[in-house]
Amino acid sequence: MKSNCNENFHKMKKPVLKSWLRISTVVILGVLILNSKHSVFAQVISPQRPPIEVLGKQGEMLIGADYYPEHWPKERWETDLKLMKEAGFNVVRLAEFAWVLMEPTEGQFEFDWLDEFLALADKYEIRAILGTPTAVMPAWAARKYPETLATKKNGQQIVWGARKNNCFSNGTYRLLSERITRAMAEHFKNTPNVIGWQTDNEFAGPVCHCDRCRANFQDWLRNKYGTLEKLNTAWGTHFWGHKVQTWGEIQVPDCDSEGGNWSPSGNPSACYDWRQFNSWLNVRFQHDQVKAIRKVCPEHHFITHNLMSFHPEINYYDLGKDLDFVSWDNYPVWYKPTISYGAAMAADLMRGIKQKNFLIMEQTAGPCGWGVFYRNTRPGEIRKIAYQQLAHGADGQIWFRWRTCTAGREQYWHGLLGHDGKPLRRYKEAAQVASEYRKLEKYLRGTTVKSDVAIIYDYHSIWSLWGQPGFEGNNVRDAIARYYNAFFRAGINVDMISPEADLSKYKLVLAPDLIILPDKLADKLNDYVKNGGVLLTDCRTGVKDETNLAHKRTLPGLLSPMLGIEIEEYGAITPDMEYELKNENTFSGSYSAIHYCDWITSKGAEVLAGYEQWHLKSFAAVTRNSYGQGKGWYVGTIVKEEAFYDELISKLLEDAGIKTYIDLPIGVEASIRQGNGTKLLFLINHTEDQKKIIIPVGKKELISGEKTSESIELGIYEVAVIEL
Ligand code: GLA
Ligand code: ZN
Repeated sequence: MKSNCNENFHKMKKPVLKSWLRISTVVILGVLILNSKHSVFAQVISPQRPPIEVLGKQGEMLIGADYYPEHWPKERWETDLKLMKEAGFNVVRLAEFAWVLMEPTEGQFEFDWLDEFLALADKYEIRAILGTPTAVMPAWAARKYPETLATKKNGQQIVWGARKNNCFSNGTYRLLSERITRAMAEHFKNTPNVIGWQTDNEFAGPVCHCDRCRANFQDWLRNKYGTLEKLNTAWGTHFWGHKVQTWGEIQVPDCDSEGGNWSPSGNPSACYDWRQFNSWLNVRFQHDQVKAIRKVCPEHHFITHNLMSFHPEINYYDLGKDLDFVSWDNYPVWYKPTISYGAAMAADLMRGIKQKNFLIMEQTAGPCGWGVFYRNTRPGEIRKIAYQQLAHGADGQIWFRWRTCTAGREQYWHGLLGHDGKPLRRYKEAAQVASEYRKLEKYLRGTTVKSDVAIIYDYHSIWSLWGQPGFEGNNVRDAIARYYNAFFRAGINVDMISPEADLSKYKLVLAPDLIILPDKLADKLNDYVKNGGVLLTDCRTGVKDETNLAHKRTLPGLLSPMLGIEIEEYGAITPDMEYELKNENTFSGSYSAIHYCDWITSKGAEVLAGYEQWHLKSFAAVTRNSYGQGKGWYVGTIVKEEAFYDELISKLLEDAGIKTYIDLPIGVEASIRQGNGTKLLFLINHTEDQKKIIIPVGKKELISGEKTSESIELGIYEVAVIEL
């Protein structure tokens, strides 16, 4: 059945279509550029729509697998759907790489194969999340519109192949994307088991260096700064005589070092803008698709995207604005088994993007890998990984992928089923999770993680440090993880929040490595402490302004009165050195300061630790200052030992009046989901040892249904969900 969407396109002859595409590209670009002053990502389409929760009204958690009907003979479909049904699955995500099958030739749409699969899936009550397939353009698009292919930094155009080939500035590509999206929306808007959409797949790049991107960047800058004078000031182009005299001369800055140690030569402020521009390109591209879907599809169709945790390319707060909720792809199993701190922190970030629960769109189902594969999941590990995400706010769980693909680059990215398509151990473990989730659903509805602690996660600081970290290896994710992991070990939930979030609901806020600190944000942090908050900031916080120029102030700049310190000098602790850090009165042992040290002078702050090195003896390393009703903490170095951070956060929690509620053995994770009068304690053993945890007596452990005694034993990778 040909979708009516291509009738209009059929009438056009090629030349007309081509010139129409070009004319409309210019028109669309013009409108969008004018419009971009309102920064498209700030506009939420149809804001009056009722918010859609992952755990929808029907209350059933989405549990299933990423499925590729196009990979298997039709005869196999029913076998797979039956096995999914038997496993308790109720959803598949599909079609995100099937553009060429849905539009085999330009403007010719063929959805029959997908209709057939969806109808069969509906028979087994399997719902569908459709992916817009723009992560891989069909070969005909690359052939006919080569300008849609991205250009690499060396000026060479990408050769069509693999995926993510396209330039995001290219108007033709945006039109082709809108057309296939609209055609799919038109065609599947009434398909009974289509419940939502995934835009594209894992936005991140490519970063294109074509002339159109350069021109687009120039226009974006003109929109942002208005005059060349403002641009020159923002970029500090007096340095090296780089004054910009016309918009047209602006080049794509050299922002990514080509493998060598030395950082790239690009002006840091120009690179900072270039990162923002590329993030904006992806957000705008998604905005086109969201608009097309919202225009056609019923309100209950949700729109989401599969984010990639800490990837730095896109400001996920911006990307999330157009989405009903975020999804993300979680792959925590690679090398030897470890405590999955990172997956917990990533989950908290994903929850923080829209400050609401999220969906797992892809998750480890077996050994991961492309050219080589890594460790297999061990018995109980698939389940443990799923429960960790549930504990942090996942309201749905889709494994990647259903069956290991026998062809292509992902022959070794294993699914729940192997190449042989047999429902074996991994499939059975997923089925166990699904059946347990069905039991938990009624308790989970309306619950999420509610934290007293928040950590600011700022893309502007990430972009500032990208290519110019300051001290070697400095990055926001690691800076946060040092503190986050200590909260994890203490069983304290943490929200990861945007710098724009409301801080007042938190008793304790940390702002590690917040290098971009506009005066407005500094005022906000100061007010938070003045009004009774406890704030910790640390190395490099407040060094730069909102155009990535260094503030002309003694550090920590406008935060100085609140922190009660000044930092006249600082320096790297290079990899061949370690400084000794101690203060018997506050910290139990001496610790090793590495990577970086601020030479802190107290201006009223209490010195909680200092350096032992002769040239630093008169300086502080850790300080705390009373300011207004609250406290401002500052840590001016990085400490090698985890024990330091355990001690530090116990002091922070005390200052903030936050009590730990459970004593955890190392390797056991605790998280609480609460809401609607329900409070659920998740306990997860990340280790391969038996662990005993003291817990409240007489509660109900929901998986087993048993009453709790004063302790619980968790075996290897075992989990428990206790109704408090
Ligand atoms: C990402 C992509 C998937 C697949 C997996 C495994 O998560 O979204 O399409 O490529 O990685 O590589
Ligand atoms: Zn381009």
